[in-house]
Amino acid sequence: MAQRSSFVVVANRLPVDEVTTTDGEKQWRPSPGGLVTALHPVLAQHRGTWIGWAGGDGPAPEPFELEGIHIHPVPLSAEELERYYEGQSNATIWPLYHDAVETPVYKRRWRETYRVVNHRFAQAAAEVAAEGATVWVQDYQLQLVPAMLREMRPDLRIGFFLHIPFPPIELFMQMPFRAEILRGLLGADLVGFQQRLAAQNFVRLARHLLGLRYEGQSIQVDGRRVKAGAFPISIDTADMEKLAADPAVQARAKQIRAELGDPKTIVLGVDRLDYTKGIELRLKAFRELLADGKLNVGEAVMVQVATPSRERVEHYQTLRVRVEREVGRINGEFGRVGTPAVHYLHQSVSKQELAAMYAAADVMMVTPLRDGMNLVAKEYIACRGDTGGALVLSEFAGAATELRQAFLCNPHDPDGVKDALLRAVGAERAELKRRMRVMQRHLRTHDVARWAKTFLDELGVDDEKTRD
Ligand code: ADP
Ligand code: F6P
Repeated sequence: MAQRSSFVVVANRLPVDEVTTTDGEKQWRPSPGGLVTALHPVLAQHRGTWIGWAGGDGPAPEPFELEGIHIHPVPLSAEELERYYEGQSNATIWPLYHDAVETPVYKRRWRETYRVVNHRFAQAAAEVAAEGATVWVQDYQLQLVPAMLREMRPDLRIGFFLHIPFPPIELFMQMPFRAEILRGLLGADLVGFQQRLAAQNFVRLARHLLGLRYEGQSIQVDGRRVKAGAFPISIDTADMEKLAADPAVQARAKQIRAELGDPKTIVLGVDRLDYTKGIELRLKAFRELLADGKLNVGEAVMVQVATPSRERVEHYQTLRVRVEREVGRINGEFGRVGTPAVHYLHQSVSKQELAAMYAAADVMMVTPLRDGMNLVAKEYIACRGDTGGALVLSEFAGAATELRQAFLCNPHDPDGVKDALLRAVGAERAELKRRMRVMQRHLRTHDVARWAKTFLDELGVDDEKTRD
């Protein structure tokens, strides 16, 4: 019988992925993405159960303990991986919710598998949740879970948080099983979003699609009240600041600068290799500034780290080709032997290496066409200490609502992106430090612990009681 918990998180991914090395050995590695970055410290504090997929296909590994968290893996077959994860989650819902920046693909068999897998996650939660427990369901892969779980376990307090944007009504209405998704979410007591506008889209949609009444952010459903609200997610700011201040990380930052030829300006991009992140447009902005003679190779260098992501999904395969072609073009046209214009890494790096890169970079470019929040932007700020540094930030990232002292730009306007990058490169150190200080102060008070507490308070859960 599974160990029962008073606090359960249900997410598509576990904090660690089981990978098979080239020698056939099984290993656990940190999982990619912002959801894990944010939730890991929260769970480690609450010591609850984390239900999720372990990364591969076939039978799930046995439950185990990780830093005080009970890890409860859920299996996915190869077919489910293709239909539920790569198909319905990442080729239908992901592009649709990100303003359809790539065309969403709709397939009936993907939908059916999405139902089956959501039911499995709900069942796992019903098994491990103690009487009256709090279950916090995460993200777009599991939108049917709240209603399924309520049906199985009406005694539970159920929260749902969407890490990505929630689209306007007219886009959401494209979804073939739209009413089922909406009813799935309405199974929760509280539905949380990154932005106020997203919460408004949701309550209006409930009236538009299901004719439900709402007052403020509170929807009447089957005699229950379902609340919606905005809870902008964040990072473990103190932990990131501490890591960046570590002498080993600072020494590595100096070494990175030296290895890049001690240029005047290091421009950095760090993302999952995803078409929502605007990687191509920032490369293009950099190329045009080199061509215009506004930046010079040797004085300025760009580093782009792109974590491999969803590699079997077609949109991602074509993106990789386009990005790598652009990197090749820039280096071909502007690079010199021993001095490339762009350094491109298609790999994951350790947290320490990432912190050193942030500490080394003069300008951080975060230019998504649409992003729920973007934690990379927040991590960069936390890693700057009192050394200044400039953040170029897309207005279409959730983070732009909070980080107003960044060099904001519209990613759909190439000249606007170039202008923001040039202003960031040319800004006085005193101005950069002033901007950075304001954003750092904000992140110290608005960290991930506050995000979790605010959500759980609104859910009506005593934060202390969820600590097993
Ligand atoms: P998303 O959730 O869409 O991936 P976020 O910016 O919110 O985007 O979160 C990305 C997380 O993944 C951050 O915590 C970041 O540090 C981490 N990350 C991104 N790229 C890499 C990389 N190449 N190596 C290691 N970690 C990475
Ligand atoms: O926050 C967005 C998100 O899709 C998370 O749900 C996910 O864990 C992360 O990005 C990484 O994506 P994936 O799990 O598909 O590798």
